[in-house]
Amino acid sequence: TMYTFLPESFTPVKQKPSKELRPMLGAILLGLILFIAAVVAWCYYTVSLRKAERLKTELMDLRADGFVIRNQHGEVVFRLAFRSGSLDLESCSKEGEILSCSRSSRGPLNFFIQTVKPKDTVMCYRVRWEELAAGPAVEHTMFWEDAHWYGGSEMSIQHWPIRLAGYQEPVPYVTSDVYSFRDSFGGILERYWLSSKAAAIKINDSVPFHLGFNATQRALFFQARYKDSPYKPPPGQQPFPELSYRVCVGSDITSIHKYMVRRYFNKPSKIPAENAFRYPIWSTWALYKNDIDQDKLVEIPNRELYVRWLELSAFMPSMQFSIPPWLYDKEVVEIAQKFTQLHESLVAPLLLELAGEVTDTGDPIIRPIWWISPRDEATHRIDSQFLIGDTLMVAPVLEMGKQERDVYLPAGKWRSYKGELFEKTPMLLTDYPVDLDEVAYFLWVS
Ligand SMILES: *[C@@H]1O[C@H](CO)[C@@H](O)[C@H](O)[C@H]1NC(C)=O
Ligand SMILES: *[C@@H]1O[C@H](CO)[C@@H](O)[C@H](O)[C@H]1NC(C)=O
Repeated sequence: TMYTFLPESFTPVKQKPSKELRPMLGAILLGLILFIAAVVAWCYYTVSLRKAERLKTELMDLRADGFVIRNQHGEVVFRLAFRSGSLDLESCSKEGEILSCSRSSRGPLNFFIQTVKPKDTVMCYRVRWEELAAGPAVEHTMFWEDAHWYGGSEMSIQHWPIRLAGYQEPVPYVTSDVYSFRDSFGGILERYWLSSKAAAIKINDSVPFHLGFNATQRALFFQARYKDSPYKPPPGQQPFPELSYRVCVGSDITSIHKYMVRRYFNKPSKIPAENAFRYPIWSTWALYKNDIDQDKLVEIPNRELYVRWLELSAFMPSMQFSIPPWLYDKEVVEIAQKFTQLHESLVAPLLLELAGEVTDTGDPIIRPIWWISPRDEATHRIDSQFLIGDTLMVAPVLEMGKQERDVYLPAGKWRSYKGELFEKTPMLLTDYPVDLDEVAYFLWVS
């Protein structure tokens, strides 16, 4: 391998013509020696890097069997292993932003990592591993380590952050009916994962993508294959499996997610009609479906569950009654009236404002608590509170028989629906009382 040494900032120094030749010759000689020393040191450095079987590119540390990415503070925030074969680092070379390799332990391949720094606070890596034979799968393992992860697919039992159990061989990443097939992926499926350590990965749409995991190892398996797979190569193309993705690292989880969404996802082009946000939708489908009989008419959900559900639905973008409140009693009807009014007066105006922004920004209307407090680790695990925009926080009662719950107030000034002002935040309100006809909600006080 040849190396050319090019000093990055070479500023020629103007030398006064000297009459004394000897010191000048000496200086030239010294300069030459220094230059040779620098070249030798550089070669030695690169060779020793190769010997150590690793290459560095920006904040990424590439080895034959995978790579790690550090954030600006030097902390490892992303770790990935090449599971189907390792790179032959001797076949790698770097040109500008692109590091490419042409051989792996399985034979020739097209591999590259391109570094892109789209913003001061964001660093991205485009990775592509393409086999040059119609053979076995390409598989990379992503370790979620001690970070919390979000994204991926809808599951029959949804955990926030993601929590997986057991082991799953890579299976085609396609939608299915989670009610009938409990272990399959649901109707919402994104080739996107986001971590509390401000790293995110987006698998390219062109990949014949299969997903597996090993919960003990805390690892996701990303696999590209055409063999025994519903994916077919594009017409006229060889069935060479190719795994490509982008990993981006930012300064905090909210800003990196916003960056990824703006860069790699389509935004909604239209928003639903205003009335869908403002007024309840009435439907009898949940109760009767197509056939009605005596048993079905008296079969309604538990009263408390129904009340807690309707209260929560008042804070959703659209309220729907599939079971009318008058099937219960007068108190339930009153609660229903109170919450449809609250939806119309408090929630709907905020929803309409936020919906107007979605087509512009892609930011969701319903947000996790970490959205406004991304560096507060306590917020990364909150799965029973949510935000509407940045200013209205809801903490519904989700447990049977409970008239109280714990509420986490992230940093900021908050006013409760009861009128209390909370300023010494962040704080945890334990056993905060919430009657059956109430939902705990808090408004951001600016
Ligand atoms: C990603 O997918 C697009 C379209 O599906 C394709 O044109 C592009 O080449 C792919 N990028 C990489 C790095 O493989
Ligand atoms: C899952 O990972 C654990 C820990 O690394 C390992 O012992 C186990 O064999 C793996 N399971 C399978 C089925 O590969």
